[in-house]
Amino acid sequence: SRLGRLPGRQDWSSWPHYQAAAAGFRGYWYPVAYGSHIGGRPKQITLLGEKIVLIRDGGRHGAVYALKDRCPHRGVPLSEGNQQFPGTISCPYHGWTFDLASGDLKAAITDGPASPICGKVTQPTYEVAERLGLVWVFVGDGEDAPPIDEQLPEELVANTAVLGSRIQPRVGNWRFACENGYDEGHAKYLHRTSLWRMFKAMPVWNETRIVQRGRWIFRVQEQQYWDADFPGLGPWNNQAWYKLKPPAKVSNIGNTGGHREVDPVIAAQEFPGFASVSMPGVLRIVYPTFIHYEFYVPVDAGNHLYVGVLAEFRTGRRVLPFYAKYLGFIRWLFHGEFSAQDKWMVEVTDAPPERLYRPDESLLKWRKLAEDVTEERVARLAGQGIEPIAAKD
Ligand code: FES
Repeated sequence: SRLGRLPGRQDWSSWPHYQAAAAGFRGYWYPVAYGSHIGGRPKQITLLGEKIVLIRDGGRHGAVYALKDRCPHRGVPLSEGNQQFPGTISCPYHGWTFDLASGDLKAAITDGPASPICGKVTQPTYEVAERLGLVWVFVGDGEDAPPIDEQLPEELVANTAVLGSRIQPRVGNWRFACENGYDEGHAKYLHRTSLWRMFKAMPVWNETRIVQRGRWIFRVQEQQYWDADFPGLGPWNNQAWYKLKPPAKVSNIGNTGGHREVDPVIAAQEFPGFASVSMPGVLRIVYPTFIHYEFYVPVDAGNHLYVGVLAEFRTGRRVLPFYAKYLGFIRWLFHGEFSAQDKWMVEVTDAPPERLYRPDESLLKWRKLAEDVTEERVARLAGQGIEPIAAKD
């Protein structure tokens, strides 16, 4: 058995980068909005504590741009302004007009065409990508953004999928949201009452092992225990007469008995475990016929964006039943009621100190992954002479 003792850590100081990342890790792409919700009217978002204006240039099929949402003249948000010339955005106050791609001040309208301030001011910009129907923004420290495909789940880059998604602003630190998603114990206890689990047999507890493959760490279920007898208290289980029987054999896909047909694209991934997590806070839950992802997007230290994406690897006419199933069922039960239980816990979780128990190995491994990867990035930036910006609280 792999059931060892946990180190007696009670705060986050063993992971200084993780501890400092209250408002998120820099150097990553984050999904911030539906592409269809960004048009020619500027929209303000907050990402990693930074106010950013998003605008789509050149109509429905044009590109989305992102700039720091604070006019350098007198500090008014550019998102309050609008577009006066193609390829630019103008501040509503005095008409300073910035190039969307470069951020260069192209005109200060109220100082005439020969304004000497032009060419002397550049507004910071952010790299933007549109993937999976979402707008993604890269927040870094001045380095070039890596290709977004290097950060997206590999199976979504390599295969055609039909997607259902949900974006919800939520209260609470993004780390609590990510830890909750990957948390071993809560799936068996917090969610035992969810409608999603209503007919599903749930073990009381299980032995797990965390394994790393590439950028992801996986929870591998080794042994499940369906009944327990607690000394001095008595028996307890998660079953009820209307629940399905526990599976005879434990599968590491979909938490099922391994008897359901697995989608060929999903089977081909040979995922070692049901739940996996990667930087900068992406959860992947694999079911036999679909995959559910959660992106925990840091807004600031006290708020995050919950972005839930459900993917089925279908094309052509097989797409229609997916939408019927997603809109009629999954969206409410899974992205709705089930996920609302998580939302509730993230809102009420208090900051460390904490006293961890055995199933929290999943949390420890995630924190360690974050810490190690960040260490690598800091070293890489140092090699380029870039001093990382400290996280903002
Ligand atoms: Fe933006 Fe004056 S504050 S132009």
